[in-house]
Amino acid sequence: MTEDQIGLVRDSFAKVAPIAPAAASLFYGRLFTLDPSLKSLFTGDMEEQGEKLMMMIATVVGSLDRFEQIAPTVRELGRRHAGYGVKAAHFDTVADSGRWSKGSATSSRPRCATAGSRATGYCRKK
Ligand code: HEM
Repeated sequence: MTEDQIGLVRDSFAKVAPIAPAAASLFYGRLFTLDPSLKSLFTGDMEEQGEKLMMMIATVVGSLDRFEQIAPTVRELGRRHAGYGVKAAHFDTVADSGRWSKGSATSSRPRCATAGSRATGYCRKK
């Protein structure tokens, strides 16, 4: 990712971070609307789940300029997800929901969306 793209992702996340619980709730609400079958994969408390999700995103966003340092953590997270029953195609639904929630919580711009896709694509590859 270019420095410019990392900056866009960070600026964008900085807008969401203060309203993290609301953003997480929007995100999961949209996710289960897009694919109600995903609901059964989540067995824990959804508020806690939202906190974990936002904390992990914050870690990744904060480390985009030294991604190799956190790549093992992201890889481990991916491995745990296989155990939760998550399939590769679910990432497209999660990405759709993420874009929608971010657009609802902040005003999204196309350049920012491209940078965001690069960031998530990067994690997905690792
Ligand atoms: C951007 C990519 C994603 C991130 C950053 C992320 C983050 C997390 C985190 C931090 C946890 C807490 C447990 C752990 O650390 O293992 C978790 C759990 C979980 N995630 Fe994700 N996740 C992502 C993608 C997905 C996708 C595509 C699905 C598919 C629907 C999914 C479904 C789940 C489920 C089912 C759990 C376990 C919930 C439970 O124990 O009740 N995640 N995720």
